[in-house]
Amino acid sequence: EKEGHDWFMRKEIFEQPRAVADSLLGRRTATGQLQLDEMRLSDQELRDIDKIIIIAAGTSFYAGMVAKYAIEHWTRIPVEVELSSEFRYRDPILDYSTLVVAISQSGETADTLQAIRHARTQRSKVLAICNTNGSTIPRESDAVIYTHAGPEIGVASTKGFLTQLVACYLLALYLAQVKGTRFGDEITEVVTQLEAIPAQIESVLDGADSVYALARSHASARSVLFLGRHAGYPVALEGALKLKEIAYLHAEGFAAGELKHGPIALIEPGIPVFCVVPPQGRDQLHDKMLSGIQEVRARGARTICLAEEGDERIEPYADHLIRLPRVPVLLQPLVAVVPLQLFACELASLLGHDVDQPRNLAKSVTVE
Ligand code: F6R
Repeated sequence: EKEGHDWFMRKEIFEQPRAVADSLLGRRTATGQLQLDEMRLSDQELRDIDKIIIIAAGTSFYAGMVAKYAIEHWTRIPVEVELSSEFRYRDPILDYSTLVVAISQSGETADTLQAIRHARTQRSKVLAICNTNGSTIPRESDAVIYTHAGPEIGVASTKGFLTQLVACYLLALYLAQVKGTRFGDEITEVVTQLEAIPAQIESVLDGADSVYALARSHASARSVLFLGRHAGYPVALEGALKLKEIAYLHAEGFAAGELKHGPIALIEPGIPVFCVVPPQGRDQLHDKMLSGIQEVRARGARTICLAEEGDERIEPYADHLIRLPRVPVLLQPLVAVVPLQLFACELASLLGHDVDQPRNLAKSVTVE
C-alpha cells in the first residue's frame, strides 16, 4: 500500500499534486463563482464578521500563519493566529462577529477541540478546516471546509499541510467574494493560478534526486537553520519542524528580518541555512531577503537557497540552489515546502529512523 515507496511519508509527499488538485475540485460554479459545500454560514453571517482568529497546532498552525497573509490581503479582515493550546488561557476577546477558524488534519486534536468549545460558549462562529470526515472538530463546528488529502498515515504531516493551505486560500477568496473586497476576475485569476499548482509541484518532485543528494551530504549536520520572510516565514518554520520530528535534529526557523536581533549569533562556519527566497519584484521582499542571506554567508553559513526560476540575483549567494516554479508570493508555500519535506524524509531515512512513526509522537494528539 506504500505503492513502491519505502515510507508512507514519501508516498504522501509524492501524492501532493493529486491531493491539491482534489482539494480544488468542484469549487467553481458554471458562472465562475466560488462555492464551498459545507460552508453553512450565510453570506450575511459572513459579512458581519469583523475579526478572524485562527487556531491550530504544529504544522496546521503554520498553515494558519500563511492564511493570515492571504485573508488580510484579499479581504482586509484582521486575522490573529494562535496556538490552540495558548488560546483559551488568555481569555480571548470573542463575540458573534468573530469567526474562529480551527485547522486540524485529524479533527481530533484535544487542544483545538477545547478551544472551539470555548469559542462557541462566547457565541463566536466556528469554521473547521479538516481532512477527516465526521471527526469531532468538524462535528462541533458551524461550518467546515474539508480538505481532500485522503488518509494521511505518516505521522509527519505533508499532504495534509498542502491541502490545508489550499482550503485557506479558498476561504480567503470566498470571503473576498462575499464581502466584495475583490472583483470576480481577480478571484478567478487566483483560482486559475491555484489550478496550475499541481503541475508545478510535479516539477519540484522531478528534482527529488538532487534534494536527496543534498540530504546525503548533510547526514552529519548537528543543527540546521531555516530563514524566510512573509509567506516564506511559516515555510521556514515548517521545514525546521519536519527535521525535528523525524530526523531528531536540532533545527530552527526564523523570520529573516529577526536575524540581527539575536539568532545571527548562532551562525558559525559551515552551518547549513535554508533560505526561502520570495519571488522577485514586489515590496522589496526579495531585496531584504538577499541582504539577510549575504549576512549569514559572510559569517560562514552554507546557504541552501530555494528561489524561483529565472532569479539570477540569488546565484552569487547560494552555495546550493533549489529552483522553484514561478508562483505569486502568497502561493509560494505550496511549492517551497516540498523540497524541505523531501530533505527531512531522506535525511531521517538515512539516519535509520522510523520515518512514519517517529519516537514520542502520535498522529493525533487527543490529550491536552
Ligand atoms: C507535524 C504534525 C503535527 C500536527 C499537529 C496538529 O508534522 O503532524 O505538528 O500538525 O499535531 O494536528 P492536527 O492538524 O491533526 O490538529
